[in-house]
Amino acid sequence: MNFNRVAPYFEPLEKIVFRNQMQLCRTAYLSDLPSLTKIAVIGEGDGRFLLEILKQTQCPKVHYIDSSKVMLEMAQSRIRQQLPEALSRVHFYLCDLANDDMPDDQYDLIVTNFFLDVFNEPTLTATVSKIVRSCSKNAIWLYADFQVAGGKLMQLRALAWLKTMYLFFKLVARIQAPTLIDPASLLETHGFQLINQAEFARGLMRAEFRKRV
Ligand SMILES: C[S@@+](CC[C@H](N)C(=O)[O-])C[C@H]1O[C@@H](n2cnc3c(N)ncnc32)[C@H](O)[C@@H]1O
Repeated sequence: MNFNRVAPYFEPLEKIVFRNQMQLCRTAYLSDLPSLTKIAVIGEGDGRFLLEILKQTQCPKVHYIDSSKVMLEMAQSRIRQQLPEALSRVHFYLCDLANDDMPDDQYDLIVTNFFLDVFNEPTLTATVSKIVRSCSKNAIWLYADFQVAGGKLMQLRALAWLKTMYLFFKLVARIQAPTLIDPASLLETHGFQLINQAEFARGLMRAEFRKRV
């Protein structure tokens, strides 16, 4: 799996296809966050969410984690240009979570935006377990991703979109997932209970605020 090739086109493509809906979905619960001490933003890509979380929280340790060198460089340059005063609060980790361990532990916030959908079932299960082990006791998990939900017509629409997107990302990034696996039950098994959720793009995407209890 490698997002280097598609990294420069990610934002323009997203805006053409979904306008601002993905960013609204990513940032849905930013204003609901309590004071935090250590955040992991995993599979964060080009850093658009990272910029917002740095603006909206004063957390002293924000760990950006991604396996794509190009994505990481784009995120670094975004923060350097648009919020240089926050650079001292961010660590950038080039890290492939399918193979590597989390860079640190005791995270009180985990963010996975449009990240868990790239994995097949065994890797998804293993990666989520690895992330869970790096969390603090009452950690929060912000999740945003596509979904198949609603009535028959809405589900057919979602399935058609997902088929197109998975074909595209298989070609350009060699993603391993053959189709979308909804991780809700997996997160619940690990004690991350759903506190709030919201839908975007007429039900095609879902943002969740979960908390470990
Ligand atoms: C679909 S993109 C989503 C990017 C961003 N979070 C967003 O909301 O647009 C998936 C991201 O996860 C990263 N990624 C894929 N597999 C990974 C892995 N095993 N470990 C860490 N990052 C990974 C990719 O490099 C890419 O930046």
